[in-house]
Amino acid sequence: MIREARVIAHPNIALAKYWGKLPGDGNLPAVPSLSVTLQGVSTHTHVAFRDDLGGDQLILNGEEADAASLARATTLLDRVRAASGEKRFAAIESRNDFPTASGLASSASGFAALALAAVRAAGLDWDAARVSDLARRTSASAARSLFGGFVELDAGTPATTTLSARPVAPGDHLDLRVLICVTTEGKKAVGSTEGMKATASESPYYAQWLVLAKDFERLGALTEASALAMHASAIAANIVYWNGVTIEGLAAVKALRARGTLAYATIDAGPHVKVVVRANDAALVGTWMRAVPGVLRVIECAPGEGARLEESGAT
Ligand code: PMV
Repeated sequence: MIREARVIAHPNIALAKYWGKLPGDGNLPAVPSLSVTLQGVSTHTHVAFRDDLGGDQLILNGEEADAASLARATTLLDRVRAASGEKRFAAIESRNDFPTASGLASSASGFAALALAAVRAAGLDWDAARVSDLARRTSASAARSLFGGFVELDAGTPATTTLSARPVAPGDHLDLRVLICVTTEGKKAVGSTEGMKATASESPYYAQWLVLAKDFERLGALTEASALAMHASAIAANIVYWNGVTIEGLAAVKALRARGTLAYATIDAGPHVKVVVRANDAALVGTWMRAVPGVLRVIECAPGEGARLEESGAT
């Protein structure tokens, strides 16, 4: 018998970043974060527990994944096996329609999708918060992709045993778009876990209040400041995720603001600049950013839904 589930999940972009983990192996963020889940970029993941496997298998974008990625997936599956009656190995197939492992938050949608698919394939009826906690143990940003719209993840404390993200406001609460300016299709050299070990940062709690107050201008300013603080601390530890196009992109966003358009940049653990704008300005800002030398393409994303089941069953 095969027990399987298919899930779709979307990346999220942190407006207030988490960068830095608590000591220990709980994978607990040291600072709170606030993100928006994106529509228009997706991860599709299928998990099947089968009798005929001698170990877990992971196919990522059509190719067998490297040992480190498989080990992370197996750790998550082990937690699901320990909590369910399902003890067999699983075959995982996962596909992203955007660049993988390049700071476009593929680990967020990837582990959110894997957590939900594994839980449902194993027959567990856990709610989104419990699945969020499971995903968070592998990738803290993944905890946020279980939910749609604007989502918050608290910092952990040494006493924390479970920690889930939670929705703050629906996606249409703010008329916002994120323009992902892709600067390379390649993988990054330093993963975020490795990068964080060397750095620390802080991220103010008040981002959620700015969302609730629909204060786009202050939220945008905070978004850019949070990203620059994260990268300043990373760069000080010689962890540089930027390339030349990142700098050009940042300058282009500043120039837009000087012309009176409210546009704010954010950058994750990779070189792409993401521009947070009002929906009405998205077309103009997209044209402006496409003209930056080295920007390969611009993906426009509205706020999107949380991870969800497409199908599940046993055959
Ligand atoms: O999800 P992780 O643990 O790989 O960390 C990613 C952290 C950033 O994306 C750089 C910031 C954030 O809050 O999403």
